[in-house]
Amino acid sequence: MKKFLLDYNLKVRLPIILFTAAVVFTITYFTSFAERNAIGYQPEQPIAFSHKLHAGAMQIDCQYCHTNVEKSSFANVPSVDVCMNCHNLARKDKPEIVKLNEYYEQGKPLPWKRVHRVPDFVYFNHSVHVNKGIDCANCHGDVKNMDVVAQVNSFTMAACLDCHKNPENRIAEFKLIKDNLKKGPEYCSACHR
Ligand code: HEC
Ligand code: HEC
Ligand code: HEC
Ligand code: HEC
Ligand code: HEC
Repeated sequence: MKKFLLDYNLKVRLPIILFTAAVVFTITYFTSFAERNAIGYQPEQPIAFSHKLHAGAMQIDCQYCHTNVEKSSFANVPSVDVCMNCHNLARKDKPEIVKLNEYYEQGKPLPWKRVHRVPDFVYFNHSVHVNKGIDCANCHGDVKNMDVVAQVNSFTMAACLDCHKNPENRIAEFKLIKDNLKKGPEYCSACHR
């Protein structure tokens, strides 16, 4: 009886367990790939602010709000004051603008959810890219047409290096700016300082 059970465990149950584990691993590996890459990440924001409306339809310049992209390593998200330049008048009665005004009156920053992020041990710098004429869309996609911002490109090390090695394949306006452009660095300490 014991021998039969041992045989049964070894010959039937063990392969089933191993097979199931392999299937589960494979499925989670591939279905979570985008998430680990963060592609498609699109958190709901505290105010229904639309880039499609402001940067697209109204053609407000990206840098009217993201004032730091040319000057520093960090892009910035605008404070409520910038919104209030217009919304002290525009659409004041709409519920989302009433909410916006509450943050303003209470002097509270808007708790925008961060969409793109590289780990702390990576050095990324906006100004070195933007000042050379590399447009936001090469990395962030067509934000002008997004109601809610989502991550569309991967920011893994392989993805950074892919553009640094072959910028002509990744930068849409490469032909226009190439005289101004070096290849991106590939040595480790450029991005890991
Ligand atoms: C009227 C102000 C305004 C303008 C103009 C604007 N943005 Fe934004 N942007 C914001 C605000 C507010 C957020 C944070 C909320 C959100 O993610 O929608 C944001 C978020 C973003 C993010 C995501 C940041 C993160 O958390 O990773 C990107 C990328 C971005 N903007 C790119 C652009 C680009 C590209 C343009 C021009 C085509 C642009 N923005 C124009 C206000 C603006
Ligand atoms: C340059 C002026 C300007 C700035 C700056 C601006 N907005 Fe607007 N916004 C408008 C106008 C005008 C509309 C109405 C557009 C329409 O409906 O055609 C609008 C519409 C909106 C709406 C939709 C309101 C509704 O329900 O109809 C929201 C929400 C909003 N803005 C949030 C923001 C936030 C948050 C900021 C700051 C990050 C901001 N806006 C900065 C001019 C501006
Ligand atoms: C070469 C690729 C690249 C270009 C070009 C680029 N970004 Fe980014 N952006 C990133 C990366 C990578 C992050 C995440 C940075 C981090 O976590 O430190 C980011 C983050 C952001 C954020 C969140 C705040 C921050 O600084 O982390 C905003 C806002 C933003 N970008 C706006 C813009 C705008 C506007 C432009 C164009 C003027 C632009 N970006 C051009 C790659 C790029
Ligand atoms: C769309 C193309 C593209 C992407 C994507 C990109 N880069 Fe770059 N990067 C460049 C180019 C081109 C240069 C060289 C610009 C020059 O000096 O002419 C550069 C330069 C740099 C530099 C050198 C800065 C200095 O001080 O000289 C660093 C650091 C850097 N990139 C980090 C990153 C990181 C980290 C990522 C990924 C999160 C990234 N880049 C993604 C195109 C890109
Ligand atoms: C162009 C920028 C860039 C360069 C150059 C670069 N890295 Fe990275 N590295 C990144 C980014 C972005 C990440 C985080 C995202 C990820 O894990 O893919 C990273 C992550 C890592 C990690 C953590 C791995 C992990 O899976 O979390 C190690 C280890 C690493 N890099 C080593 C190196 C070494 C060694 C070199 C030189 C041969 C190098 N890197 C050159 C951008 C770069």
